[in-house]
Amino acid sequence: MTKPTRHIFVCGSFRASGAPQGVCSKKGSQDLLAYLENELADRGMDGVSVTATGCLKACDRGPILVVYPDQLWYGGVESEEAIDAILDSLESGGAAAGYELR
Ligand code: FES
Repeated sequence: MTKPTRHIFVCGSFRASGAPQGVCSKKGSQDLLAYLENELADRGMDGVSVTATGCLKACDRGPILVVYPDQLWYGGVESEEAIDAILDSLESGGAAAGYELR
């Protein structure tokens, strides 16, 4: 097993029953997973894993995307443009203006 150098967690709003019922899922967070995976591959961002999660307890700011080990939290991630801005920032080492939660 190769451990990822960076891990992107996308809130899938999953509950104990396994059913996604929360805000992030209702706002389409899971629809962006394929786009995120494809963008990572297209950009050659090797070593980055993507995982859908349970509720990340920031529902009012969702959809939520979290990047570790960078400890970056992003909210309002509802579009491919948002994914692009976040990946641009990860590549450049800057912050994705308009999406980073503080
Ligand atoms: S459902 Fe995504 S943070 Fe709660």
